[in-house]
Amino acid sequence: MNKDVIIALDFPTGVEAVEFIDQFKGRKPFVKIGMELYFAEGPDIVRALKGRGHRLFLDLKLHDIPNTVKRTMAVLSKLDVDMVNIHAAGTSAMMSAALEGLTRPDGSRPLLIAVTQLTSTGPEALKDELLIDVPMEETVLAYAKNAAWSGLDGVVCSPLEAAKVKERCGTGFLTVTPGVRFDGGDAGDQKRVMTPAMARAGSDYIVMGRPITQAPDPIAAYEQAVEAFLG
Ligand code: C5P
Repeated sequence: MNKDVIIALDFPTGVEAVEFIDQFKGRKPFVKIGMELYFAEGPDIVRALKGRGHRLFLDLKLHDIPNTVKRTMAVLSKLDVDMVNIHAAGTSAMMSAALEGLTRPDGSRPLLIAVTQLTSTGPEALKDELLIDVPMEETVLAYAKNAAWSGLDGVVCSPLEAAKVKERCGTGFLTVTPGVRFDGGDAGDQKRVMTPAMARAGSDYIVMGRPITQAPDPIAAYEQAVEAFLG
């Protein structure tokens, strides 16, 4: 299992993203492209970052009818990304369709993981707005089980739930966890957070954006995260 720290490149332009990541010189952190950057730059930014030798998680969180997601995944399968994702809330029909669309004719495909509940969603919103009456952890575990059953490789969840996901779905089932903050760091809009050191037990990949991209010294912040998470 390749544990790693993934940097969320949440920038509005490709120029800013590339300028940021090029500071790391010889080091090639695993990076994440989300909606902001992808909608601004399209597949060119994927090619630019892959061309620089980075592993890449394309975080577009697809959630639509199965046929649309399948066809979109077939398009994304032509990009040389390492990981893509969908929302588990799209149900197992959508997740299986995504997997089918993503699988290339030679049988290869990027890792496919499912978002369980966003780490910005707290227990009140779960109950009062999403009308989900079971506790957050039960929801996340049930969504994870559906994702595993649909053949996916893992889930995006909070580090608070990662160890339980592994208990329920098996140690080989990947846990990718945003909502990671240094001790005393600003949580921002994230509600379910943990430090890199605490995430070590249950997470395969931690995703960190602002604590690294907005740090006065991003390289030092990245090194600190790597040291705390990987030892
Ligand atoms: O800046 P911060 O560390 O909060 O960034 C977290 C990143 O992880 C963002 O790019 C966000 O879109 C993404 N993410 C998340 N929660 C999820 C899935 C993805 O925060 N459930």
